[in-house]
Amino acid sequence: MRESRLVTARRKRGLFVTFEGIEGSGKTTQLRLLARRFRRLGVPLLVTRQPGGTPAGARLRRLLLHAGSLDPRAELLLMFADRRQHLTESIEPALAAGTVVLCDRYTDASRAYQGAGRRLGEELVDLLHGSFCGLDPDRTYLFDCPPETGLARVSAARGSRDRIEREALAFHRRVREAYLSRARREPGRFLVLDGTKPVDELAALLVADAGALLGTR
Ligand code: TMP
Repeated sequence: MRESRLVTARRKRGLFVTFEGIEGSGKTTQLRLLARRFRRLGVPLLVTRQPGGTPAGARLRRLLLHAGSLDPRAELLLMFADRRQHLTESIEPALAAGTVVLCDRYTDASRAYQGAGRRLGEELVDLLHGSFCGLDPDRTYLFDCPPETGLARVSAARGSRDRIEREALAFHRRVREAYLSRARREPGRFLVLDGTKPVDELAALLVADAGALLGTR
């Protein structure tokens, strides 16, 4: 009896799905397409992002992307301030209510950008994650593409780049490699997708994978 109640409770918890990749990798487009599909199916959904998923986070996002310059550790701490607020105010209550959470970036972005890009080391990021967040995604979609391709897409779409997008190519190469290396270490959580593939092809892969995840809960 007690066991069956536990199973029911676990089934009711939502699903936490994150979207990761370098600049211009196509992750946000795919997140929106999957969200549209889930909405049509009537799946309870929270579509959100980091940094910037709460009112406080929106202010932190402006600071993080447009401040003149930031010390790398200060940048990392602000990312975690945003993340902590986002988790407690929005993500955790949504998951507890059975909502599927689609989040554009999460701690893997700090591992890749601050850990590798800024060379602070993944251990420091893992330490902060363990102390302040703890929650890991059920699934992470990593969109991989060469930084040259991604940055060209950003410029074509927006014409200008923010503080982090303006970093040197070597920075973005480190970010890409760190993402891929994390994915190799956690093959059960990550699904790596080739971000140079056609949008429709990628969308079909995601619908199949996320649909299966939902179906097995
Ligand atoms: P976005 O434009 O894809 O929403 O991402 C915002 C920028 O913030 C992007 O350049 C990646 C960066 N970022 C980090 O450097 N560390 C982090 O932890 C997160 C969440 C984002």
